[in-house]
Amino acid sequence: MAQSSQAKAQTMRAVALDNFGGTEALKIQDLPVPQIEAHEVLIRVEAAGVGAWDPYEREGRFVEIMGTKPKFPYVLGTDGAGTIAAVGNDVTRFKEGDRVYAAELANPKGGFYAQYAAVRADNVSLIPGHLTIEEAAVLPTDGVTALTGLEKVLHLESGESLMVFGASGGIGHLALQLAKRLGAKVFAIASGDDGVEFARKLGADVAVDGRGDDVLIAAKEFAANGIDAALVTAGGELTDEALSAIRRGGRIAYPHGVMPEPAAHEGVSIEAYDGEASAAMIARLNELIDSGSFVVQVDEVFPLEEAGKAHDALKQHHLGKIALRVD
Ligand SMILES: NC(=O)c1ccc[n+]([C@@H]2O[C@H](COP(=O)([O-])OP(=O)(O)OC[C@H]3O[C@@H](n4cnc5c(N)ncnc54)[C@H](OP(=O)(O)O)[C@@H]3O)[C@@H](O)[C@H]2O)c1
Repeated sequence: MAQSSQAKAQTMRAVALDNFGGTEALKIQDLPVPQIEAHEVLIRVEAAGVGAWDPYEREGRFVEIMGTKPKFPYVLGTDGAGTIAAVGNDVTRFKEGDRVYAAELANPKGGFYAQYAAVRADNVSLIPGHLTIEEAAVLPTDGVTALTGLEKVLHLESGESLMVFGASGGIGHLALQLAKRLGAKVFAIASGDDGVEFARKLGADVAVDGRGDDVLIAAKEFAANGIDAALVTAGGELTDEALSAIRRGGRIAYPHGVMPEPAAHEGVSIEAYDGEASAAMIARLNELIDSGSFVVQVDEVFPLEEAGKAHDALKQHHLGKIALRVD
């Protein structure tokens, strides 16, 4: 063990699984505080993001896909925010007391549904100025996934038109704002009247309800010759229908996990991708966020003990993200 200092506590409260399963498998437990190595930091977690993918991880589908052997008790939570409690010997970017946010997928040392998380320092960043701890906690995975899609997959250019399908959701509401910041004209397909109002407030050039409005008529008015590109965060018949508004030669991107997988019409390229959670990508995200006002929508915050209710809430219509408060 190489670390400059230790968390004073030896044990912590966590929501952990002794086996994969439904929400009943999420149990409050006292666990040892994870030990850090030289390249890691220990975060005293104050809030954790509840990812759309967390129920799949809870059911054991991640380890199936990744072919890894799970270690129980298994602590969920890809995203979180809090205060640095200890730094590894090789870490120079952080000191105890720094307010940080971080993401690490399927961390073998445990996720953020806990009072402490040991995380690779490369995956950690200072919290951009104006964000609250809950906002920072829900941001990293969906933020880098939105930005990877826009910059690395779609190569979105200033002046281009972009459809964001699922614009009032986790990735979507961030992608909408990032795309505006990159100079794109955004056609937002949001969910429900509240979703449409939200997307307009975030700066969408046009916002429609993907569950009720005639999307293709609105798309034609928005871009008579078709839309240049699309970032898709929800799949299904309505998605595929909306994607017929993408022009020939246009591009579509969607993160792995969107089901059913979207289909492109002839002459349109389509690519599935994963968010790239590199230090460079997080720095770029912070830079774009810091360059103006930016909304990270936390629709509901549950106490750690109610992680199961938070998972149930993912299935209900909501705007943006859901968080856990970790005291
Ligand atoms: N591969 C990766 O790196 C990566 C990273 C992050 C996430 N993901 C995956 O990406 C997907 C999206 O994640 P997310 O966090 O953005 O999920 P999310 O918050 O559930 O967002 C999806 C949004 O799409 C909306 N929607 C569904 N059908 C619609 C329609 N017909 N018209 C308009 N809006 C519609 C939903 O609205 P309602 O609230 O009304 O249902 C919801 O707001 C998930 O499958 C997740 O697992 C992958």
